[in-house]
Amino acid sequence: MEAIWRLGSLGLPVCAPLEEQAEADVVVIGAGITGLTTALPLVEAGQRVVVLEAKGVGGGVTGGSTGNLYSTLASGQAALRRKWGDEVAADVVCARSEAIDDIEALIKRFSIECQFRRQSAYRLLTGDRQHSDHSLNDERDALLRAGLDVASAEGPGLPFDSWGIRIPDQAQFNPLHYVQGLASVLIGMGVAIHEHCPVRRVDAKEGLVQTDTASVTARHIVYATHTPKGISLLQAGMLVSREYAVAARLRRGEYPEGIFWLLDPFHSLRSYRHGDTPYLMVVGEKHKTGEHEGEHYQLLREYLSSRFEIETFSHQWSAQQYSSPDGLPYIGRMHGHDNLYMATGFAADGLVWGALAGRIIADQILDHDNPWQARFASRRVTPGKSALQYAKENATVTKHLARDYLGTERIDSFDGIAPGQARVATKSGEKLAIHRTEAGELKVLSAVCPHLKCIVHWNPEESTWDCPCHGSRFDTDGEVIEGPAYRPLSRSEGLG
Ligand code: FES
Repeated sequence: MEAIWRLGSLGLPVCAPLEEQAEADVVVIGAGITGLTTALPLVEAGQRVVVLEAKGVGGGVTGGSTGNLYSTLASGQAALRRKWGDEVAADVVCARSEAIDDIEALIKRFSIECQFRRQSAYRLLTGDRQHSDHSLNDERDALLRAGLDVASAEGPGLPFDSWGIRIPDQAQFNPLHYVQGLASVLIGMGVAIHEHCPVRRVDAKEGLVQTDTASVTARHIVYATHTPKGISLLQAGMLVSREYAVAARLRRGEYPEGIFWLLDPFHSLRSYRHGDTPYLMVVGEKHKTGEHEGEHYQLLREYLSSRFEIETFSHQWSAQQYSSPDGLPYIGRMHGHDNLYMATGFAADGLVWGALAGRIIADQILDHDNPWQARFASRRVTPGKSALQYAKENATVTKHLARDYLGTERIDSFDGIAPGQARVATKSGEKLAIHRTEAGELKVLSAVCPHLKCIVHWNPEESTWDCPCHGSRFDTDGEVIEGPAYRPLSRSEGLG
């Protein structure tokens, strides 16, 4: 099943893969919210821009997001304030508020139909009030200090007891329709957006970006790919996770209006209307990428069913998150290369960070001042705020390298793998990712991730091979879905 945002997907003029050598001022890799927001001001300033997208426009994490736009962070303003203090916490709110205003202005300017509307966001508790809520008081205090209006909230349209904080004047939209609208605008301005055109190699020194069929040379190269492709030191400290979503129709009862963060435990809830048909969706059940355990979609269905009268479940999807070690995104010029740019570490808050990143990167390329460049610079070094997560994530990589290389089951044949099953095993000394389709077809790939040689793990809910080290993901044919790997999992010679 696909994300709910594909309902009523806007048609785009055909964007073919790149077939010929091309030259540009800027190559943007990725046609999600970051890439297309970067491209727009560049084109308007007269730059020649080429956009290369591995899937379709918005087909990465933009089209798998919640569609919620908010000035604070889903993980909470109080946590941000504890880590960074009042000044930075207020900067985050200010920068993100401006980015939401920018999105709204573009929607109005180009008449993009994406159901943008201002909404309140709620942080809510639902349990026993006696054990409530000094955490809510901290959060309220942090939001006020950051300059946001807040009010108390009691059961705001939900069919169960809840209380907490309301933050007015946040927003929601359909993120896929938004970027499809932006893409149409850009194509109308003469930008070449090449879909289904994965990038296989970047040579920053030569200003060269290579695809399967052609290459582009450019003065500037932007990784608008959620995490930079290839090898970057920042990947070593990034926490990579997957989060799941389901949407449903109600048998009876109201569809609640707003952004609802239910905190015990964390779930994000919202409604969405396609035509005359309303839907309710919930997002949660996060786990580290490559460490899949349990039935996350089923848990989300149970979560909704225990709180609403569900008629039917209509959609399910998941998305990846990269959380930076110091809690802020990395945006802008990369270490070591003045012509290479990235935007990563958005955690669960990527739509607004993506819009902000697009502005910052475009301003850097155009040599314009941007008040947020320094605050979110990808070249910043913050050991005091980052060391713990760096240590944890490096320990994760070491653990997986040791356990997965030493502990893989040995097999002599593939007979024990039934239709629908998958496993990683060693055969004839080779680590294999083995999957038998429901129809009985056997697909055997190398289990060694082409990024930095960790062993991939099976995600049965997505039918993907996911790497636990830095989050590269591959389909059952080995092709890269997302993450830092450029190349697919290689096909194994060990079949038979
Ligand atoms: Fe880095 Fe797989 S993503 S080793």
